[in-house]
Amino acid sequence: MTRMIATAAALALAMIAPAQAATVYNTLSGEAPLVIAHRGASGHLPEHTLAAYELAIKMGAQVVEPDLQLTADGVLVAIHDATLTRTTNVADLFEPRNGGYLVSDFTLAEIKSLTALPTRTASTSYPDYTPSMADPFKVPTFQEVMDLVNAHNAATGAQIGIYPESKTPNRFSLNAKIVEEMKANGFDGSVPNTFIQTFSHEGAQQLAVMQDLLGMTNGIAALGYVLKTGDAYGVYDATTGTISSLDYLAGFATGVGVNLGYDLDAGFIAAAHALGLAVHGWTFRPTTLEAAEDQFLPWIAAGMDGFFTDYPDLAVAVLDGLNPAPVPLPAGLPLLAAGLGALVVVRRRARA
Ligand code: G3P
Ligand code: CA
Repeated sequence: MTRMIATAAALALAMIAPAQAATVYNTLSGEAPLVIAHRGASGHLPEHTLAAYELAIKMGAQVVEPDLQLTADGVLVAIHDATLTRTTNVADLFEPRNGGYLVSDFTLAEIKSLTALPTRTASTSYPDYTPSMADPFKVPTFQEVMDLVNAHNAATGAQIGIYPESKTPNRFSLNAKIVEEMKANGFDGSVPNTFIQTFSHEGAQQLAVMQDLLGMTNGIAALGYVLKTGDAYGVYDATTGTISSLDYLAGFATGVGVNLGYDLDAGFIAAAHALGLAVHGWTFRPTTLEAAEDQFLPWIAAGMDGFFTDYPDLAVAVLDGLNPAPVPLPAGLPLLAAGLGALVVVRRRARA
């Protein structure tokens, strides 16, 4: 009898205790890598739409990424390409201007009349998700993206970060507008996991100076392709055709956002970490959990600090798999209490 009760108590303890030791991460912070929703949950819904950002947050992304371009009337909008062609129905509604459909040739009002289209594996709906906004598939302004994130953070106490990209070519005016709007909306360094990124390393340096002048402390990420010359790692800046050394980048950036190919390896991550630079890789596009494990696990082992992914749900699933949640206390506690209580009674009786 005593053995049975002791076994019940041990079983209850085992149910409450975590199933395995916590995973040790080789990231710069020692925390799990960041799940960065690349253009929102763009593997599921039309990229760079409020619905894609909202779904990404619901899926557990800690950061959402808007690429930013300027309209003809000077408004920041979230869209990847310099043109409206690939991701909207612009060609159905407008004649070409200057031979095409540059974002910079259309006003915000005109762009708002368009509908964002799904690309790649995306669709216009996702199971069990109803967008909270009236018009979920429009090209959003940067202001609307920040409003969505701020509203979510205020309502839930979460601290979702943003990772805007100043699209090249590098422009002082574009960079200044991004920094000023971020500051005006509270993204001044006080919201964790918030960064500004650009492929122009000169632009990244400019953004860092602008932030300093405004007393802002968001991360700055220089984007590019890892290239190794001899033993020295560098990041290729396609806007100038030059390779920036990690030493140079560490002078003004807090991290690098790098393509998953070329010379990227664990050695690069270690070299970047040695200089205090975080490494965020792009773009992870697994469509199954098995593919996600294949793609994410080696980079988790190598210490990558963040994943730009179109499928934040799969990145979250892989990370959750490394640290399964313990059995909730309410389920295990009554059994534990009963087992321990009975054990005490039996022992007292035995002594009497
Ligand atoms: O910003 C990181 C990654 O998004 C860079 O690629 O072309 O998707 O903006 P792209
Ligand atoms: Ca981007």
